[in-house]
Amino acid sequence: MSTLARKLLIAGNWKMNLNSAEASELADSIVNQVGTQMEVAVCICPTFTSLEAVSKRVVDSNIGLGAQNMHFENSGAFTGEISAEMLRHLFVSYVIIGHSERRDYFNEDDNLVNQKTIAALEASLKPIVCIGETLNERDSGQLESVIHRQLEGALLGVSPNHADQLVIAYEPVWAIGTGKTATPEDAESVHSFIRKLLSDILGIEAANKVRILYGGSMKPENAEALLSQKNIDGGLIGGASLKAHAFTSIVDSAIKLSS
Ligand code: 13P
Repeated sequence: MSTLARKLLIAGNWKMNLNSAEASELADSIVNQVGTQMEVAVCICPTFTSLEAVSKRVVDSNIGLGAQNMHFENSGAFTGEISAEMLRHLFVSYVIIGHSERRDYFNEDDNLVNQKTIAALEASLKPIVCIGETLNERDSGQLESVIHRQLEGALLGVSPNHADQLVIAYEPVWAIGTGKTATPEDAESVHSFIRKLLSDILGIEAANKVRILYGGSMKPENAEALLSQKNIDGGLIGGASLKAHAFTSIVDSAIKLSS
């Protein structure tokens, strides 16, 4: 658990799953099970088509709402895109930016991730900026250079004043949806490297306010060991976030470590 005043954040990335009726049902179960606790920040990120329905289900609870992507412009001729303002109108407070699936399948690069991060912060959203290396990059000794490039690229021009709004998610690409998890020690060593880079980029005081989540096959069985690491401030959970019981039991592990 983080020793500083960083509240753990457990975020569910539902990816392209569930229609709005199914999403509402899952949101109801999560609200019923962990919707009143205050020790841990929790957020769920449904598809755009379910945001409005889920927003109504979480509105009176402590469950935050997140989106999985956004455009950096406020409005205009960008067919198929959604702006930060539109998300805010639905009471969205978090937005995932630069997920490896978007970098990989939709060619999002560091520059685009940077534009979206800045637009999200300006709109008072909390960006969850995803970074992480592929297996090839790790095996060829490029882990640190990739993390450095992605983090520096994403945060170009970001003010240290936004540090408590900013969330970084370290998601090693080889651990996403594969059942392979980084060991808690391996993850912690990358998280502490990220903290050091944040300190170089934003200054030490700001760096200590930024939450760094781990993502990649986090599940009830490994959550406690990961979340108990000093620089792991929460989790970004894919597969296990689609089952209310699995997701809330990860939240319970975080609560246990926070109290
Ligand atoms: P899994 O938890 O399914 O590995 O997905 C992780 C992820 O990509 C969260 O954004």
